Amino acid sequence: MKPFLDVLINKKPRTPTPIWLMRQAGRYLPEYRELRADKGSFLNLVYAPEDAKEVTLQPIRRYQMDGAILFSDILIVPHALGADLDFKKGEGPILNHVRTKSDFEKLTREHEGKYYEKIYETCCLIRKGLEVEGFDETTLIGFAGAPWTVACYLIQGHGKTTFPEAQRLLKEDKDLFDQIISLITDSTITYLSGQIEAGAEAIQIFESWASLLGSADFKQVSLKPVQKIINALKIKYPHIPILFFPKTANEAHLLEASQLKGLDGLSLSYDVPLSFLKQLPTTLVTQGNLDPEILLAGGEALSKNVHDIIDATRDRPHIFNLGHGVIKETPPEHVAQLLKALREN
Ligand code: CP3
Repeated sequence: MKPFLDVLINKKPRTPTPIWLMRQAGRYLPEYRELRADKGSFLNLVYAPEDAKEVTLQPIRRYQMDGAILFSDILIVPHALGADLDFKKGEGPILNHVRTKSDFEKLTREHEGKYYEKIYETCCLIRKGLEVEGFDETTLIGFAGAPWTVACYLIQGHGKTTFPEAQRLLKEDKDLFDQIISLITDSTITYLSGQIEAGAEAIQIFESWASLLGSADFKQVSLKPVQKIINALKIKYPHIPILFFPKTANEAHLLEASQLKGLDGLSLSYDVPLSFLKQLPTTLVTQGNLDPEILLAGGEALSKNVHDIIDATRDRPHIFNLGHGVIKETPPEHVAQLLKALREN
């Protein structure tokens, strides 16, 4: 069995630890920047299956990663539901925002297939590409945003680190807020099912804005819809492992998340101390959590931190990853150094 799937499905430690990196496809690789410049925009790249396949395979060719993350974005779901989407340089994503009942009524699931089909085609091409190029050990990871995180962008319409309009709607119009979450959840189930049918062998759900929610809201607004997605996928595809990444969630939230039924793996941010791992059952795979700043810095600090993570995870099923995405300025040689340190161990 492929190393990544072996750890996630059989829940046992494996040496060397399987590895992939969040944001491994993209920004920091010169071959990505070249293709990106050619295509003019990020979305042109995402909706061109041949090109999206290329970007997905770029880090696999360089580093033989154990996981290939589909090249797409969490904002494809609101885009497919009818919210115009644009990525402006230095500003991040911009969507036409949904804050009122009449905004909401403009959204529709009628055309989602037209957008999702492109991504499914990318999944098919990646699986073929991995086979043709001889990467038999690499697993294709599909993904989506968790409903709360997607709702943050959809309600705010943009956003870097704060989403006050999403927070306000949650407090002031819970009915409309719930309708938005419910629409995103249902469409996400369709979208992830399609990725699996097209060849995704594992799924990661990104909850990037988990830390904006208090304890009661975290259960209701983050975990409840995520549980609904897991339940729907596990009924249809019981053999497909699911990872959840509640970015910068506190330890109480992480313990709550570890109780999600059917969850195979929990991804930990760079801020989680390695001593916390002992609090998580060994029936749950952990993933993470090297600080991307340390990868950026390279050198001895990088080697030391890699070994610290290997030591702390020796007796538990673990997937090596960063605690968030690769920083754009990271020299590709530092990624090579990381792989060498991990695989020579
Ligand atoms: O290697 C990979 O991870 C590729 C696939 C991928 C992208 N985005 C490509 C991308 C994945 C898994 C994502 C997830 C994603 N997208 C998240 C969750 C993870 C996280 O970072 O917290 C979120 C919140 C988004 C939303 C998003 N997409 C933002 C805020 C931005 C703009 C700011 C930024 O970080 O660049 C994007 C654009 C985006 N998504 C790029 C890439 C490669 C940059 C596009 C470019 O200009 O080339």
